[in-house]
Amino acid sequence: MLLINGSNREKNNYKILKELKQENDTLISLSHKKINYCLGCNSCKKKLENYCIQEDDMKDIYMKLKENDKIIISSPLYMSHITGLLKNMIDRCYPFYHHNYFQGKTVYLILTGQGSKEDNEEEIEAIKNYFKGISEWLYFEFKFLDYFSTREKDNIECDNSYEKRIKNIKEQIDER
Ligand SMILES: Cc1cc2nc3c(=O)[nH]c(=O)nc-3n(C[C@H](O)[C@H](O)[C@H](O)COP(=O)(O)O)c2cc1C
Repeated sequence: MLLINGSNREKNNYKILKELKQENDTLISLSHKKINYCLGCNSCKKKLENYCIQEDDMKDIYMKLKENDKIIISSPLYMSHITGLLKNMIDRCYPFYHHNYFQGKTVYLILTGQGSKEDNEEEIEAIKNYFKGISEWLYFEFKFLDYFSTREKDNIECDNSYEKRIKNIKEQIDER
């Protein structure tokens, strides 16, 4: 299983992913990776062995994405959407569109934000639709897992149902 932390910090989203990570899983924090923007050059349309002509940390991430059938992404809301860091990584997945490597994979999404789930209802729905759209392009199965509020203490654990919800997420992932 591959776990991807879309935050610029190793705090709340990272904590959730660490709880879900098992021995042979890989946990990546995108903030530690050098990921250039997609150039829109369309070189990946050709059968390039390395997927993309750019030399950066996406090379390793492409391999990890290809190797794992379950991918868990966790992102904070930044200005009502996923972080730019994560969006940038997703843009760089354009080669998978051409090479069809996502078929059969399941992408799970967890979101966090300062606001309550009710406050962020529209934002969560928009992000779910965004992932649903990409899933139709890349042919993966998409499953939204949960939204955690960090409230004013900047801490997901201030939610007293935290442990129960983590347990529930583990069950949903193991189901498959
Ligand atoms: C630039 C920025 C924008 C943010 N925008 C939102 C937002 O639109 N809605 C929200 O509920 N929280 C927002 N937050 C709060 C973060 O989503 C929240 O603190 C999150 O849990 C941080 O995750 P982390 O601890 O893994 O970095 C924002 C935080 C930052 C730094």
